[in-house]
Amino acid sequence: MLACIICLIFLVEVANGQTFPVFVNSSNPIRSVPTRFLSIGWDMYESVPADFYGFDFSYYWDNTATLDDVFQNTSLFDAWYEVVYEAKKLTNWFHSIWCGECSTMTGGGAKGISDRFASGFLWLDKLGIAATYGLDVVIRHALWGDSGFYALLNTTNFQPKPDYWLSFLYKKLVGTDVLRVTVNSASGPITTPQNQSLRLYAASSASGNGFVLYGLNIYSCLENGLIIDLPDVNNKQITAYVLTGYNDDNLGLASRYASLNNALLNWTSHQPTPNIQGQVASLPFTVPPYSLFFLVVNQTQVTQCPAGWYQVPNTNKCINVFQANQPWFGANFNCSLYGQNASLLSIQNDTEAYYVHQLTLGTSCSQSFIGLLSNNNGSNWTWSNGDSSTYQLWQTGYPVNDNTKNCVAFDKNAGKFYNVDCDQPRCYICQLYI
Ligand SMILES: *[C@@H]1O[C@H](CO)[C@@H](O)[C@H](O)[C@H]1NC(C)=O
Ligand SMILES: *[C@@H]1O[C@H](CO)[C@@H](O)[C@H](O)[C@H]1NC(C)=O
Ligand SMILES: *[C@@H]1O[C@H](CO)[C@@H](O)[C@H](O)[C@H]1NC(C)=O
Ligand SMILES: *[C@@H]1O[C@H](CO)[C@@H](O)[C@H](O)[C@H]1NC(C)=O
Ligand SMILES: *[C@@H]1O[C@H](CO)[C@@H](O)[C@H](O)[C@H]1NC(C)=O
Ligand SMILES: *[C@@H]1O[C@H](CO)[C@@H](O)[C@H](O)[C@H]1NC(C)=O
Ligand SMILES: *[C@@H]1O[C@H](CO)[C@@H](O)[C@H](O)[C@H]1NC(C)=O
Ligand SMILES: *[C@@H]1O[C@H](CO)[C@@H](O)[C@H](O)[C@H]1NC(C)=O
Ligand SMILES: *[C@@H]1O[C@H](CO)[C@@H](O)[C@H](O)[C@H]1NC(C)=O
Ligand SMILES: *[C@@H]1O[C@H](CO)[C@@H](O)[C@H](O)[C@H]1NC(C)=O
Ligand SMILES: *[C@@H]1O[C@H](CO)[C@@H](O)[C@H](O)[C@H]1NC(C)=O
Repeated sequence: MLACIICLIFLVEVANGQTFPVFVNSSNPIRSVPTRFLSIGWDMYESVPADFYGFDFSYYWDNTATLDDVFQNTSLFDAWYEVVYEAKKLTNWFHSIWCGECSTMTGGGAKGISDRFASGFLWLDKLGIAATYGLDVVIRHALWGDSGFYALLNTTNFQPKPDYWLSFLYKKLVGTDVLRVTVNSASGPITTPQNQSLRLYAASSASGNGFVLYGLNIYSCLENGLIIDLPDVNNKQITAYVLTGYNDDNLGLASRYASLNNALLNWTSHQPTPNIQGQVASLPFTVPPYSLFFLVVNQTQVTQCPAGWYQVPNTNKCINVFQANQPWFGANFNCSLYGQNASLLSIQNDTEAYYVHQLTLGTSCSQSFIGLLSNNNGSNWTWSNGDSSTYQLWQTGYPVNDNTKNCVAFDKNAGKFYNVDCDQPRCYICQLYI
């Protein structure tokens, strides 16, 4: 009953169009150290880094959990997010963290959940959160032989359980760069999975071609599923891998088997290598209720700059003038947070300098740091991002030969370069490539 009231509130939100526009920032990985997920971990312990922190953690709930516990209250999913967040905080957001003995529940897992299709919701969400919030390695407990319910293979006959197929798909499809996902809902953009019944994650695709949007739909009342659209994506052809319960013996979520795109997944001696294939589909795409899904999108680049950034005409470069005072090194660091290839601005020619000038005219910044830096008393200028461009647009009389002026600011009025004190905070201009 309670679950349905929650759904009704949600229905009001989705009634308006029924489509979730999802934005995946495919040009700006939020981290490039991926979460690696292993089902067998002992060889990896040999290469543990010196600053390694490890913890064993399943969910707070133990093996007495019921299906209602799992599916009627998303705060149980969020418990894992909170643990990861606390762990990162404890290690100053810096150290490598591994989750060993990672599974869906403690104490061997819950009967009728951990060995069933239902388990996949917890497991995939766990992998998504681990990747998004920066765990380096997740080691699944266990592959085989555990006395409880959460081993991936049946201990007696080695038959794969649904989590095995899910893990297989994750390894096959999900690549190394974690991407930021934003869902536009009626109540505003959602960027964390907290409290959500549509839980989405994204990464570069393992094949190196494009990206994969993956996640789970645990809304209980929306019988026709949810429509996902990717408005930023031009190539509307995708490859979909949708897992649902096979529903043997009417067990529903406690089904012992999973279906992939409506076909039973079972491992027979005639087909020892799983023949897992996606289904070509188009966007917008409907994800069924109580499903787990991976949508592989071939397009690697979005064609637009992120919101708030401006595209240098006829180039794949986006720039943004940050009207916040930072010393040069802080500004350089801040720019680098916008993606693997983001940095303080480097300028290549008059055309670009002209465009930058027009942009700065619209700001309140009289001078903004760019990426040009000297390591030799105001001579030997190089771009901080390694750009080999030798273009320099000095104001008359500059650069001044002064050991305290080894950084460069773009001057709004002159539209020219001045060398200035690196430590004196200024506005700054960042760039990224799409
Ligand atoms: C959901 O679970 C949390 C944690 O167990 C509990 O504190 C909360 O009261 C539950 N909420 C509902 C609506 O059942
Ligand atoms: C393993 O498979 C056997 C035979 O199908 C079944 O009886 C048993 O319950 C399974 N064990 C687990 C832990 O799923
Ligand atoms: C999730 O819901 C709880 C309880 O309603 C609320 O306190 C919390 O702020 C919510 N978190 C997010 C991220 O919306
Ligand atoms: C995506 O790219 C791969 C590799 O080039 C190709 O095999 C596949 O057919 C493409 N999928 C779609 C839906 O275009
Ligand atoms: C899966 O395959 C096993 C043997 O390989 C068989 O015993 C079992 O009935 C199959 N399950 C379904 C649902 O067909
Ligand atoms: C893409 O990422 C950048 C930097 O994190 C952010 O400012 C921008 O809003 C994002 N774009 C979308 C469409 O979410
Ligand atoms: C990055 O930018 C934010 C917001 O302007 C600022 O609070 C923070 O201090 C900056 N960090 C660095 C290292 O400059
Ligand atoms: C970074 O930008 C340069 C210049 O456009 C480009 O050649 C390179 O491929 C980019 N690298 C990445 C990882 O985006
Ligand atoms: C100027 O630099 C841009 C890169 O910012 C490049 O794409 C363009 O071709 C250059 N134009 C000229 C005239 O060299
Ligand atoms: C920079 O100039 C100072 C004197 O102003 C001199 O002592 C120092 O050696 C110079 N540094 C370099 C790298 O030339
Ligand atoms: C100029 O700086 C570059 C990069 O830091 C360095 O490799 C080079 O030796 C410097 N040249 C002179 C003349 O100082």
